[in-house]
Amino acid sequence: MKKPILIAPSLLAADFTRLGEEVKAVDRAGADLIHLDVMDGHFVPNISYGADIIKAIRPLTTKPFDVHLMISPTDAYLRNFADAGAQIITVHAESGPHVYRSLQAIRGMGCQAGLALNPGTPITVIEPLLDVIDLVLLMTVNPGFGGQAFLHPVIEKCAAVRELIADHDIMLEVDGGITPETAALIVEAGAHVLVAGSAVFKYGHEDGYRKSIQAIREAAESAQI
Ligand code: DX5
Ligand code: ZN
Repeated sequence: MKKPILIAPSLLAADFTRLGEEVKAVDRAGADLIHLDVMDGHFVPNISYGADIIKAIRPLTTKPFDVHLMISPTDAYLRNFADAGAQIITVHAESGPHVYRSLQAIRGMGCQAGLALNPGTPITVIEPLLDVIDLVLLMTVNPGFGGQAFLHPVIEKCAAVRELIADHDIMLEVDGGITPETAALIVEAGAHVLVAGSAVFKYGHEDGYRKSIQAIREAAESAQI
């Protein structure tokens, strides 16, 4: 059965001087989720923003917050992100030795638990975790920066994850280098939640965001098998 295509604009590419306006604009422009990239300068070579910023923008939209933690360690900070209003909290499989515990903790806080995999991480890590995850996030770039080129080898990996997930009620999200063209390729391989940063925010205004979200959605829907 086809799962609905969900577009999750990443605020990393927004104009931070007008962050509140950007959240409202991308909401009105048709975002299904708001993707929030948290980077610690340790797990990834860049620092972005944390739970206080997420909490500050939470009242500006009713769309679910999809929080992507690129931090290590994670566990001591999960409560902050749950309290900041996250619906989905995703941790990286590579972030530490106790990812099972982190995923359980996220669910215990009433959020949906996501497991992210870097492009170089084998999908076998997912198998023992199938019962404790609500979402798999496949990185289609090396995490840390927006605006990078989509890594085509992840297409095959995505198809393999789709098979592994089988009938489990698990969302399959991809993140990095998503455009209408790459969206079509990765949706054909089974993804249905698409993060897009620069492809949306490069326009700098709401009409552009709307056109871009619509173009990604149309390309994705027509590629879905
Ligand atoms: C990268 C982040 C992405 C990034 C995507 O580490 O996880 O969410 O913002 O940006 P684009 O769509 O520009 O590749
Ligand atoms: Zn992300």
